[in-house]
Amino acid sequence: MKKKLIFISMMAVVSMHLHAQTIHKMAVDVNKQMAGISPTMWGIFFEDINLAADGGIYAELVKNRSFEFNMPMMGWKEAKPNGGSILILNRAIENPANPRFARITVKNDKSFAMANEGFRGMGIKKGNSYNFSVWAKSVNGNNAVIRVELVTPKGDKIGEGTVGINGKGWKQYKLSFVATETELKAKMNFIIENNGLYDVDMISLFPADTWQGRANGLRKDLVQWLADMKPGFIRFPGGCIVEGRDLNNRYQWKKTVGNVEDRQLIINRWNTEFASRSTPDYFQSFGLGFYEYFLLAEDIGAEPLPILNCGMACQFNTAEAVPTEGLQPYIQDALDLIEFANGGTGTKWGKLRADMGHPKPFNLKMLGAGNENWGEQYIERLRIFTKAIKEKYPNMQLVNSSGTDPEGDRFNYLNNELRKNKADIIDEHYYKPPTWFLQNAKRYDGYDRNGSKVFAGEYAGHTKLTNVAEKKNNWDAALAEAAFMTGLERNADVIKMASYAPLFAHIDGWQWAPDLIWFDNLVSYGTPSYYVQKMFSNNKGTKVVSITMNDSTVTGQDSLYASACIDKSSNELIVKVVNTLGKEQMLDIGFTGSNKLPTTMRQTLLRAASLTEVNSFEVAANISPIETELAINNNRIEVTAAPYSFMVFRIKL
Ligand code: AHR
Repeated sequence: MKKKLIFISMMAVVSMHLHAQTIHKMAVDVNKQMAGISPTMWGIFFEDINLAADGGIYAELVKNRSFEFNMPMMGWKEAKPNGGSILILNRAIENPANPRFARITVKNDKSFAMANEGFRGMGIKKGNSYNFSVWAKSVNGNNAVIRVELVTPKGDKIGEGTVGINGKGWKQYKLSFVATETELKAKMNFIIENNGLYDVDMISLFPADTWQGRANGLRKDLVQWLADMKPGFIRFPGGCIVEGRDLNNRYQWKKTVGNVEDRQLIINRWNTEFASRSTPDYFQSFGLGFYEYFLLAEDIGAEPLPILNCGMACQFNTAEAVPTEGLQPYIQDALDLIEFANGGTGTKWGKLRADMGHPKPFNLKMLGAGNENWGEQYIERLRIFTKAIKEKYPNMQLVNSSGTDPEGDRFNYLNNELRKNKADIIDEHYYKPPTWFLQNAKRYDGYDRNGSKVFAGEYAGHTKLTNVAEKKNNWDAALAEAAFMTGLERNADVIKMASYAPLFAHIDGWQWAPDLIWFDNLVSYGTPSYYVQKMFSNNKGTKVVSITMNDSTVTGQDSLYASACIDKSSNELIVKVVNTLGKEQMLDIGFTGSNKLPTTMRQTLLRAASLTEVNSFEVAANISPIETELAINNNRIEVTAAPYSFMVFRIKL
């Protein structure tokens, strides 16, 4: 994102408009301090949907690296003709988490070759190093050479390396090389040279340049988007993926930690969820597992918020529930997770965390039980779950689901029951048209200030203006989200956390749109909604202060929405104003309750000429923040709010 810093003498710019237009007078009173804003207020929702993890943020380039997909050779293609053959073997009894491997026979002084297609190709960058690894053994003791080549779709070689294998025991072999060209959709040839019988498994290729340079690491550009948000929390691993289509397919964190080769792959529920967006090659390798999620949270300064299955599969699919008397393993998973995150290195799960490289605790403070679960069966299971966790960890904050919708019978029943049970935090979801967001800027004004807190856990403006996935992330949706978020901020005594959903989408492998960040194998861009989220998160503040227009909160009168807060750490006043009208509006904002303000302030402006505008791979920063400096005169600012605009003002106190 390119930041511009322009100095504008405001009075000159606005004076010609002042006579012709209505002036909207707003009053900010710094002395009228209201809700404290939680440090976790604005955060991130992460789910492995739209190839967000495998094929996305998890930087592994080889698809189906250990032949565990339903079709063991999916993603792989044998060369034809070939100097050898391949047989998939299954050692399930000896190794249930990673049963399959490939036995390759090479004869007649030829070689065996097969190619991996990657996740819609492999994104390769010229001059970057790539780290290849494979677990292998020579069955009859012959020595062999493994040759790895990266090739373009036309077959041109853009990188290669070799490594010798020897010995009858399983060993991991590694090689590295530098790519000579950039390619969006490269393939990897895997070749074994020399006669013999060789077993291979976990055939892997990573860029060396991952986030923090970690092995088994994450894609740097994608993590950077998250770090730039300075998020208060990160929720993981979802979403519906927590529940699974059936209980067998639920997310089980214990199967996602430890050595990567021992993490048991399962089908991704988004593989088959939408017939029109079927993604037959979508599985969860769990290379990005709970340890990596905790590390990611720590890296980007976000509180970790894991959501666990509470004994119920997705109620839109099988609606399977475990009998209440069978809940214990689920509860134990939750208790053990707390030990994994926070326990001493002398505890079973704390030791595993230390063995994986993180002796210090991750300091987990909150945990979700269930995602979009509903009905009596949820309340019943949640009660047992909550009792067991609170007994052992009374300070652990528990997030409860209020179902799929923010209104209606299902919501009302859950909301009442959860509040009766004094739930710590209630997770509300709303995927709604932009108009809903505008109408609901006051949604939380009437909520009980002393009851359960709210986590706006999944939301996004769903516009009907287009059927093109990427274009669903238009300015219409983002602007309405910004207007709504002023209402969340104003109600920060009720709203503890909020996150847009879903987070990531691969342009060639998505199932759900709109999404916050789009990417292909090489590049990524933030949508207008991303910049709205970032502007709120980067301008969080610590305490809400009063901002009014004609003595009322600013919740849509004359198409204007506003909130204000102070940031005690930087001693600044932060004002957010959204103009949803397609015309300029004159604002005159007066400040009371502070000493004399300085003569200038910083404005961050996000705007677009029309509601259908979007960002795209071609024009990634079409709608992106513009920084300017504006004048303050005697504790007043006069500013022209551009048509369809969102502004943040920061003023030193
Ligand atoms: O964000 C996509 C999906 O929407 C989530 O998995 C689910 O919780 C919701 O229905």
